[in-house]
Amino acid sequence: MRRAKISIIGAGNVGATCAHWCAAAELGDVVLLDVPQTENMPRGKALDLMQASPIMGYDSTIIGTNDYKDTANSDVVVITAGIARKPGMSRDDLLSTNAKIVSSVAEQVKTSSPNAVVIVVSNPLDAMVQRAFQVLGFPSNRVIGQAGVLDTARYRTFIAMELGVSVEDVSAMLMGGHGDTMVPIASCTSVGGIPVSQLIPDARMAEIVQRTRDGGAEIVSLLKTGSAYYAPAAATAQMVEAVVRDKKRLIPVAALCDKEYGVGGYYVGVPVVLGSGGVEKIVELSLTDSEKAAFQKSVDAVKSLVASMETLLKG
Ligand code: LAC
Repeated sequence: MRRAKISIIGAGNVGATCAHWCAAAELGDVVLLDVPQTENMPRGKALDLMQASPIMGYDSTIIGTNDYKDTANSDVVVITAGIARKPGMSRDDLLSTNAKIVSSVAEQVKTSSPNAVVIVVSNPLDAMVQRAFQVLGFPSNRVIGQAGVLDTARYRTFIAMELGVSVEDVSAMLMGGHGDTMVPIASCTSVGGIPVSQLIPDARMAEIVQRTRDGGAEIVSLLKTGSAYYAPAAATAQMVEAVVRDKKRLIPVAALCDKEYGVGGYYVGVPVVLGSGGVEKIVELSLTDSEKAAFQKSVDAVKSLVASMETLLKG
């Protein structure tokens, strides 16, 4: 049986770290691509990762390239290409530049890997995955965005830190766009099976939710020269794993929702079953009135972001 082929477009911090997690978990062979102007940089990172393999004990081939031919017929393509945030910038400030970058990447992927499941990571995420879907023309179940796994991981981390318990025991679900409007679903947050409301007072939970919403900005302000990459890359690798191992993980993913949740044709974070076919099912939860209102606010933010992107692309 041939190993899965995973191509990662963009060999910056998120792309290279994602290659690292994917190779270390032996999810498949990895191709790390960046634009020709980066010359041999992707080859250098790939070779370095290959040379770690005898020490860490993984049999994955990692190659670096500037040529989409090397990515041909990938099973999964991860798009991380784009500029990252600097302190003071919101994800939305990246809109115009990254929309053009993601469009040109999607043009290439469309012909080089026509059967791939495509996972978009570039920001502003919800608009970038919508753009990739428009250009790729693939069925929507094969074009998805990474945000919810990262946001949920941040939330689970903060809850575990608050209680002094293992992160493994914290289970949660966040919905909506990747950004300030993400929606925690209180009924889906538990620690060792115990509803979090029995363990952490509401006022403190509100602070944890706010820290989660600001989770990306907190890292940007600490790093000063870029944005987070370990956790975003790990979140992406978990999605790659769900696809290549057909795990059927029930996790939050940016998926195209039409009738689902009444969204009307936009990418937004929702719980899905993720397996070899990409999104195999969108799970519709019954939300409380306040969760519905918060989700709608988040969907409205995504819609206005997509509208701004479309105006910028026409201009
Ligand atoms: C973050 C960026 C990657 O949330 O969106 O850290």
